[in-house]
Amino acid sequence: MKKRTNMKKSFCNVFFLVAFCFILSHARKIKPEKPCKHLTVFYHDIIFNGTNTANATSAATANPTQLGNTNFGMLVVFDDPITKDRLLLSPPIARAQGFYFYDMKDTYNAWFAYTLIFNSTEHKGTINIMGADMMMEETRDLSVVGGTGDFFMARGVATFRTDTQQGTAYFRLQMDIKLYECY
Ligand SMILES: *[C@@H]1O[C@H](CO)[C@@H](O)[C@H](O)[C@H]1NC(C)=O
Ligand SMILES: *[C@@H]1O[C@H](CO)[C@@H](O)[C@H](O)[C@H]1NC(C)=O
Ligand SMILES: *[C@@H]1O[C@H](CO)[C@@H](O)[C@H](O)[C@H]1NC(C)=O
Repeated sequence: MKKRTNMKKSFCNVFFLVAFCFILSHARKIKPEKPCKHLTVFYHDIIFNGTNTANATSAATANPTQLGNTNFGMLVVFDDPITKDRLLLSPPIARAQGFYFYDMKDTYNAWFAYTLIFNSTEHKGTINIMGADMMMEETRDLSVVGGTGDFFMARGVATFRTDTQQGTAYFRLQMDIKLYECY
């Protein structure tokens, strides 16, 4: 009887050791420079101005407040094309659907939450992204918080860079999407 208990105990010890090593080896695998999936795409946003109905891809659904001079409180909802290259009219490889709002009273700064929806022969699924877009910075890191389909359970970082800005009419962002969990 005693012998059996000892055997059980030592079996447990071995089991925990193996489990611990497994967790440790997996926890160490994440390296910022080594994503398991990497996509660089371009996001095009044409804001509705009252007349450009055919071409607009986003619209302000809440006006800026009087707090400061940098659109504080303005909410923009978008359904924007995502392309592989910089050209607005290239065939979209995905859509970006979500919103951003301006949230600083002394500088232009926005907060984004959106889904990249892929429905092509290359990729099917979604990637969900959210975080602060500190527009004055050369690059900004937002979080990839989840995904579905080809991007099942995705997690990682989406690095934004403003590629061009044409007044209030149009802007283009480069989105460098690095996933560190791929299944
Ligand atoms: C809206 O945008 C279109 C296309 O860029 C432009 O032709 C038009 O003048 C703009 N309208 C206003 C009110 O700014
Ligand atoms: C809308 O886009 C079309 C091409 O897709 C272009 O020919 C047209 O000039 C654009 N209209 C405006 C108002 O920008
Ligand atoms: C995805 O594309 C297929 C084929 O073009 C289409 O039938 C389907 O409705 C699309 N699904 C979505 C969610 O857009």
